[in-house]
Amino acid sequence: MKIYSTRRRPNRPARIVIDGLGKRFPGAPGFAVDGVGLDIAAGEFVCVVGASGCGKSTLLRILAGFETTTTGTVSVGDEPISGPGPERGVVFQDYGLFPWLTVAENIGYGPKQARMTRPDIAEITDRWLDTVGLTRVRQSFPHQLSGGMQQRVAIARVLANSPAVLLMDEPFGALDALTRTDMQAELKRIHRETAVTVVFVTHGIDEAVYLADRVVVMAGGAAHGNPGHVRDIVEIDLPGERDSTTPEFNAYKRRIDALVHQGNHAAV
Ligand SMILES: Nc1ncnc2c1ncn2[C@@H]1O[C@H](COP(=O)(O)OP(=O)(O)OP(=O)(O)O)[C@@H](O)[C@H]1O
Ligand SMILES: [Mg+2]
Repeated sequence: MKIYSTRRRPNRPARIVIDGLGKRFPGAPGFAVDGVGLDIAAGEFVCVVGASGCGKSTLLRILAGFETTTTGTVSVGDEPISGPGPERGVVFQDYGLFPWLTVAENIGYGPKQARMTRPDIAEITDRWLDTVGLTRVRQSFPHQLSGGMQQRVAIARVLANSPAVLLMDEPFGALDALTRTDMQAELKRIHRETAVTVVFVTHGIDEAVYLADRVVVMAGGAAHGNPGHVRDIVEIDLPGERDSTTPEFNAYKRRIDALVHQGNHAAV
């Protein structure tokens, strides 16, 4: 299925380059993250895992342009980040929908802000309603929907802006296991169809192995007495259609789990 309007070209998936990134919050005794370097290819799907407090959200918020950097450089599509931008779509755990707008109006919000024509807005809205399976509830308001449906609206609303990069911070964390599995498959399909670059933070190691081309394992943080940093990067060499019951899948899970927990019991 063709996802985008022929009258408006989507942003092309963008490469993300992070070099020597450090962040010290005002008044904090030390750096929350330091020495972070990552080179994410255009169209790549990267998951970020690591213990609580290691700086995953901080990293994502910097990529979103919600936080400034203290040291180092971050660029998206060869442009240094200087604040939030429509080419970077952000989806967090709380859906952030506009409660006074219908499902369709929420999805069409970005194109409307971009002053697209009414037929273009309608076309994009209809396509994304169809893609996330919400055409039948297009006139409903967010509070009338289940958590999984609201999260679908949030994803569709961001993707309706044809972002070059999709930044997701535990987007499925509040969903039940079944809905979560559905959403993972949905997101993977959307990624295949749009080839948008995705940075996805999760506590679910199986979720990361299922979704990612590469898994970035972060470590450290205030509880460990050192800044958050990248401990290792694991490339997931599994087919596009992944089966979480195979020995190969489980070997990746065990390897990443060991990396996440490594050193947790050591004195710091
Ligand atoms: N606005 C802020 N002001 C001061 N310190 C902050 C701020 N935001 C985050 N921090 C600190 O930065 C560190 C990293 O926090 P961050 O939220 O990025 O961790 P996380 O890996 O996302 O954790 P979790 O898995 O619990 O979501 C923590 O020590 C936190 O207290
Ligand atoms: Mg976080």
